[in-house]
Amino acid sequence: MSAFIILGSQWGDEGKGKITDYIAKSADVVVRFQGGNNAGHTVEVGSKQYKLHLVPSGILYKDKINVIGNGVVLDPKALFEEMDYLKKLDVSISPENLMISDRAQLIMPYHKVLDGIKERARGKNDIGTTGKGIGPCYTDKMERSGIRVCDLMHEDVFKEKLQENLKVKNDIITKVYGENPLDFDSIYREYINYGKTLAPYVKDISVEVYKNIKDGRKVLFEGAQGSLLDVDYGTYPYVTSSSTIAGGVCIGAGIGPTMITGAVGVAKAYTTRVGKGPFTTELFDETGNWIRENGHEYGVTTGRARRCGWLDLVILKSSARLSGLTSFAITKIDTLAGLEKVKVCTGYKLNGKVIDYVPASLEDLAKCEPVYEEFQGWSKSIENARTYDELPGSAKKYLRKIEEFTDTKISIVSVGPGRDQTIDISHI
Ligand code: GDP
Ligand code: IMO
Ligand code: MG
Repeated sequence: MSAFIILGSQWGDEGKGKITDYIAKSADVVVRFQGGNNAGHTVEVGSKQYKLHLVPSGILYKDKINVIGNGVVLDPKALFEEMDYLKKLDVSISPENLMISDRAQLIMPYHKVLDGIKERARGKNDIGTTGKGIGPCYTDKMERSGIRVCDLMHEDVFKEKLQENLKVKNDIITKVYGENPLDFDSIYREYINYGKTLAPYVKDISVEVYKNIKDGRKVLFEGAQGSLLDVDYGTYPYVTSSSTIAGGVCIGAGIGPTMITGAVGVAKAYTTRVGKGPFTTELFDETGNWIRENGHEYGVTTGRARRCGWLDLVILKSSARLSGLTSFAITKIDTLAGLEKVKVCTGYKLNGKVIDYVPASLEDLAKCEPVYEEFQGWSKSIENARTYDELPGSAKKYLRKIEEFTDTKISIVSVGPGRDQTIDISHI
């Protein structure tokens, strides 16, 4: 029995797509359990690059089952666009290899409109969301007014729920924000059509996932975003609206915690963040720009330049604790090659004391000064290394520091975006 979780351990974009694709070669099922098409997961196979937003990263293998869980917020328009994009790249998708939860919440046009309006209304305090309607959709879920995939399967139920929702949303859009209302008929027709196309994919995925685990198949849970974007433990309110840590798997895929057999935290060898919010080890100098250009740090979903900084071990230690990580997968260690010295943050100095956890209050976090430990860099390019022994001694020392500080072993070192550019050290 195997149910294995892959999670982002920083602020997203750690390389979860690449690591999921790598581990998926020996798995049977890949499940997305939270987030939506705010995610942008890149997988490179040979000379082809695939950018996935909603479809799980197991889709590139012909024989894997892919599941969109109930914890995901699903924009059907975005899903169908992604399916078309993948079909053009010769990826076959059918109800044979993709299942969608009947309990997943639907992202509606008014969620996207409200995401934009609310961000503009926040002015200089905007979150820097992806604008995909994620926050407003999860708000409706918790408020218990959301529309779910199963509602689309019953036209009369969908009609009533859309009428109720649109009345309230149009009041907010017009009376609070002075913008134009949305039209019922066009949304209704559009979504009824989506429902017909979705129908063959729709299942009770808790039942399916449970059965697969019980039957001895290997199930992977592919996280989106990262632990510092978690709605409870991230840098709130500069977070996403879902539970990005391991606990989110049980809720978002409908399985119990006792079934989970392991969790790998994906972390870049440095830190990046898109959107606003605190970032203790951010670099505003030439080194930060160098990392951005060398690492091609531009968002997959929005194209925004990612903010870059040194590796923050306080964050990794917190991620290991929050998700009970059994190992780390460290990516992009190749990107740092060429820097004479590299730094890692081993503590935050706050009010004269050094702490090794992320404080809840943003006011306290803003006061935190990073305590750095400096390491010798590695000048040799390492993208061709395929074994741990082939890595330069200085890179190994850097990796050992991560293991020591977080008390968590490293199972994978990634030295490039390609499937083969992966050093598997799970046996060490
Ligand atoms: P995700 O959202 O966590 O799946 O990550 P993204 O796809 O948004 O961003 C990670 C980027 O780094 C992608 O362009 C990957 O192709 C790339 N990548 C992943 N691992 C490595 C690595 O080890 N080295 C290099 N150079 N690039 C990598
Ligand atoms: P993957 O899965 C990086 C960030 C946004 C913003 C905040 C809230 O590719 O790692 P939202 O649209 O979710 O309400 O935006 O979260 N964000 C991500 N940053 N990678 C992601 O996904 C992200 N998904 C959301 O930039 O700061
Ligand atoms: Mg990404």
